[in-house]
Amino acid sequence: MERSAAGPRRFAVVTEEARDHHDRGPSRVTHGASAGERIRTVVVEDHEDIARLVANRIATLISERNAAGEQTVLGLATGSTPIGVYRELIRMHNEEELSFADVVTFNLDEYYPMPKESIHSYHRFMWENLFSHIDIKPENVHIPPGDLPRQDIEDAAQRYEHTIERAGGIDFQILGIGKTGHIGFNEPGSGADSRTRLVTLDTVTRRDAAADFFGEEYVPREAVTMGVATILDAREIAIIATGEHKSSIVKRAV
Ligand code: PGA
Repeated sequence: MERSAAGPRRFAVVTEEARDHHDRGPSRVTHGASAGERIRTVVVEDHEDIARLVANRIATLISERNAAGEQTVLGLATGSTPIGVYRELIRMHNEEELSFADVVTFNLDEYYPMPKESIHSYHRFMWENLFSHIDIKPENVHIPPGDLPRQDIEDAAQRYEHTIERAGGIDFQILGIGKTGHIGFNEPGSGADSRTRLVTLDTVTRRDAAADFFGEEYVPREAVTMGVATILDAREIAIIATGEHKSSIVKRAV
């Protein structure tokens, strides 16, 4: 992952210490980047704390934007990392009247090729883990296409960028980080100025996905992903990482 030049955007990074490693010392919640941190970092005890922190921030943002008569534009991620956040948002929708009626979403990426109805598609993941359980308007949901002919992908990728622009840009982006350091499917080597496009997946990324696909040979070799520049245009970004297997890449990233 490459760093952006400068700007007013705020980064929040949330990491978690593994539950079975409390002997390393108490969890700490740090506000404001401390020496040695390039990104403001918050370390919490477990998945539920991360979910509550990020979901509360999103709920606050939605209520602020609603009060200003504006829609809220969220950038969303898939994978195991954000599931707790989505569960908490669904709970807030059911129990606290959090409404997504004026929320517009853009997902980071989709495998290519990938039919929407496949059990492996990020389209399906998002509907099953979030959208079907809240009051979002289907026309406000945007996910990069994995099911177009190859020759149509470039145009569709440009349209994706324009649609984000027309929505006013992304207010809050949820990001996971892969073991390669990828954000979205921008593998190492992706340019800081990259935009939504078709990319080739790293071997490590495909190996990490192998269990979900019942074998590495069934993991797609490509994906359509927002670019690094698309992601860094978001006004606020939360990179979330959980579990010991992410510790070394988090150390390098923050
Ligand atoms: P994970 O993936 O949430 O399944 O760990 C994160 C990523 O690869 O970006």
